[in-house]
Amino acid sequence: MAKSFAFFALLVSVVCFSSLLDLAQANKEKFHVEGKIYCDPCRLEFENRLSTPLPGATVVLECKYENNETVTFKSKEVVTDQNGHYNIEAEGDHPEEENCKVTALKSSHPECNDPMSGMESDRIVLTKNMGVRSKSRFVNSLGFMPKQVTNDQCKIVVAELAENDKKDD
Ligand SMILES: *[C@@H]1O[C@H](CO)[C@@H](O)[C@H](O)[C@H]1NC(C)=O
Repeated sequence: MAKSFAFFALLVSVVCFSSLLDLAQANKEKFHVEGKIYCDPCRLEFENRLSTPLPGATVVLECKYENNETVTFKSKEVVTDQNGHYNIEAEGDHPEEENCKVTALKSSHPECNDPMSGMESDRIVLTKNMGVRSKSRFVNSLGFMPKQVTNDQCKIVVAELAENDKKDD
């Protein structure tokens, strides 16, 4: 009898302990925020066929309350790899009232280092309460550009884009 009670007590404490662990885990939700930084040699401020991946660019992820701009999460600064990709680990569940965004801070490229007008990503949803199961979040690409357009091919790209515009009309 005493033995089975001891076993029961053990079982209860194991169950309790593991649900405490679950709670702790829920508070420490982890997401992988992934994206790419590119160089646009044409200063068009969007990705085009002459754009190239930009290694060595620094990005950061930040979440703020929408109404009062209080920062609720700030990641370490992360540098893009050889392919211009980055992967930021974000901690915690950030509900809808929080606005999470990646900002491209700087480029280490000697020429391609002029920021575009928008260096903040679109909003990233970092909560599992929005029905998104995956732990990965893919961010729209952000870019830098050189101070001057030196690539002759840019004229051709601009002409091509104008041609496509005409077709769309
Ligand atoms: C900012 O807004 C959030 C959500 O509405 C609230 O919980 C928080 O206390 C506010 N912080 C400050 C400093 O006002």
